[in-house]
Amino acid sequence: MIKSEEIRELFLNFFKKRGHTIVNSSSLIPVDDPSVLLTTAGMQQFKKYYTREKDPLKDFGSQRTASIQKCFRTTDIDEVGDERHLTFFEMLGNFSFGPVINDDPLDFGNGGYFKKAAIYWAHEFLTKELGLKIDYTTIFGGEKNVPLDEDSLKIWQEIGINKIEKRGREDNFWGPTGDEGPCGPTTEIYLEGIEVWNLVFNEYYQDKNGNLKKLEFPGVDTGMGFERLMKVLQKTETIFETDLFEPLREILDNFSGEIRRKRIIMDHLRGSVFLIADGLFPSNLERGYILRRILRRLLLHLRFLEINFDVLEKMIKAIIEKYKAFYPELDNFDKIKKVIFDELQVFNETLNKGLREFNKIIKGNESEEALGEKVFYLYTSYGLPVEISKELLREQEINFSQKAEEVFKQLFEKHRLISKKEENG
Ligand code: SER
Repeated sequence: MIKSEEIRELFLNFFKKRGHTIVNSSSLIPVDDPSVLLTTAGMQQFKKYYTREKDPLKDFGSQRTASIQKCFRTTDIDEVGDERHLTFFEMLGNFSFGPVINDDPLDFGNGGYFKKAAIYWAHEFLTKELGLKIDYTTIFGGEKNVPLDEDSLKIWQEIGINKIEKRGREDNFWGPTGDEGPCGPTTEIYLEGIEVWNLVFNEYYQDKNGNLKKLEFPGVDTGMGFERLMKVLQKTETIFETDLFEPLREILDNFSGEIRRKRIIMDHLRGSVFLIADGLFPSNLERGYILRRILRRLLLHLRFLEINFDVLEKMIKAIIEKYKAFYPELDNFDKIKKVIFDELQVFNETLNKGLREFNKIIKGNESEEALGEKVFYLYTSYGLPVEISKELLREQEINFSQKAEEVFKQLFEKHRLISKKEENG
């Protein structure tokens, strides 16, 4: 069975051969981009090359780059636990910055390319290099001043792909990250019913008001979900059975309990290790709070599976061992362990008391208002975070409705104002 380590290499070599400069993953904490809290896409570190504020030839010796980027997305955080959602993932990508010099897939030089080369190479990599079969592709169908992407349609037909679906803005127009930046129509490649590779043709710049302006020169930004690709290649039931999670799974196999909990543990622990390796600490602010949130949820599920801190330590080591050759920043076990343990040891106490009280007071038959009030009480009197209460409610199939949420928020806001007044004397 082909391993993830080999695939990373195959991908980078394929594009290196075709004139791309290999660029390391940027940090999960964006360096020069206030528009987002964390790095969510491979193109983020290249934004200024699309707008020509920076010169790719000067910095990379090529208008082509390729990378394997660490990404962290919070949009689906509550979905983690099902078969396919993740917070942290890796994305394999190739990029071209304008002007287009030659859009010929046989040109292995270093000039800018566009749709033809991008689509041909994606097809070649998947079908020839990896021996996979493309199920179908999608293209942008045209909407709101952005026309149907006829070029991509023709290129796919020329290659011999017959199933090509036209989709709208929601599915086939990507970006920008944050509130402004390069963006454009996309063509997506599906393998075994799964969207695996997204090829974005950055032709526009969206400003803060949502207006689209044509970029001076178009570029290419592709991103292939590594976990999904490995699932298809290794023919596993879900992404969690791929070798990317193998060392963690082996440890978790010794514990009985719901698979959903194990997936949350695998995702959240792996994500935390990577975030901490990039210098993040848990806190109550912005990105630090994202880390705090996933660490707390991790602890909740560790508890339910009765996994102790010794085993947790083994799991941290297992992640580092699996990934440190490719991501050397992970080779920092003592620090990573300390940050995780410090946070969890403090929260463990809160969680013990909070859980006890939760079980005592939540009956499942209370009104929406009462539920909002109880969650607020658990927060103010026991420090039980609202996300944890919500997670516990979800597990017991108790609906925390919009109304309950509003009641909670109102009480919370009142509480916040009072505390502030008290603080200010
Ligand atoms: N930026 C696109 C994505 O994140 C393609 O890389 O899907």
